[in-house]
Amino acid sequence: MIDGHTRTCGLMGNPVEHTMSPLIHNTLAQKLSHNLVYVPFKVEEGKILSAVKGAAALNLLGLNVTVPYKSQVMEGLVQVDGLAEKIGAVNTLVRTEGGFKGYNTDMPGLYRAMSSEGIRLEGENVILLGAGGAARAVAFLCADKGAAGVYMLNRSMEKARAVASEVNHKTGRECIYPMTLSDYWKLPEGKHLAIQATSVGLYPDVDRAVIEDGDFYRRIHTGYDLIYRPSTTRFMELVRKAGGQAYHGLKMLLYQGIIAYELWNGVSVSGELALEVYEVLKEKMNIKE
Ligand code: ATR
Repeated sequence: MIDGHTRTCGLMGNPVEHTMSPLIHNTLAQKLSHNLVYVPFKVEEGKILSAVKGAAALNLLGLNVTVPYKSQVMEGLVQVDGLAEKIGAVNTLVRTEGGFKGYNTDMPGLYRAMSSEGIRLEGENVILLGAGGAARAVAFLCADKGAAGVYMLNRSMEKARAVASEVNHKTGRECIYPMTLSDYWKLPEGKHLAIQATSVGLYPDVDRAVIEDGDFYRRIHTGYDLIYRPSTTRFMELVRKAGGQAYHGLKMLLYQGIIAYELWNGVSVSGELALEVYEVLKEKMNIKE
């Protein structure tokens, strides 16, 4: 019941029509009996900084930020968390004295999603497919969590080189190794975790994977695709065909929301409650696995 005590959170972005965030946050609020609503705010080009000011003036509890404002919004904040600063992207704003502090919950969300499946980064060799915005953030996460080595395979070697050198420099760890897609035969012996962070395989381009060769997939014990539409990607199929475990990215979406909710409300969401919200999300999106 919305009343005089209701706190408001929301998502700023453009477009915002297809977002699943209201479902995540309003389900959490309902299950935790918090008097809180979460709504989408479509912010037109050039208006993100005035939107942040307005949100502070309206005493909103917290905000998420999505495409295309994740880096632009940083200018309007009083503080930015260390990981978000390194990545250069903020997706969550938390109230502090005098304004909002920015966080990146996408990468901690990925980490918690992987941990919930028993997947570790610490001390592991990780195969990372891609060198775009998403892959760059994953590279920071892996370096931050103490991965032994991150083999960044990308179509454009130049881009992989630039991202690897930036992440190595900013984290003070020389653990990201840039490679081209066809160089996978140079990977260390044994089976590894692979994180799929290219846009190949994303709906409607569903029947492609960035590498098709079965010989590559024999080197993977676990494949994690950041894509969740479709919920079984070609990459996941190829990992499974070669005997590995494969996961889609919907739990990452879930946990980036849960971590934001925890920051806004000063609570911790249990693993059981997270799974209840996950079921609601899967049902709404008609995802079976
Ligand atoms: P995002 O924000 O989702 O990471 P992006 O920054 O545009 O999007 O990055 C897209 C990634 O998918 C890049 O790694 C890109 O490879 P290049 O750097 O070589 O462009 C990769 N990618 C996109 N289409 C591809 C294709 N057809 N074949 C191989 N890689 C592709």
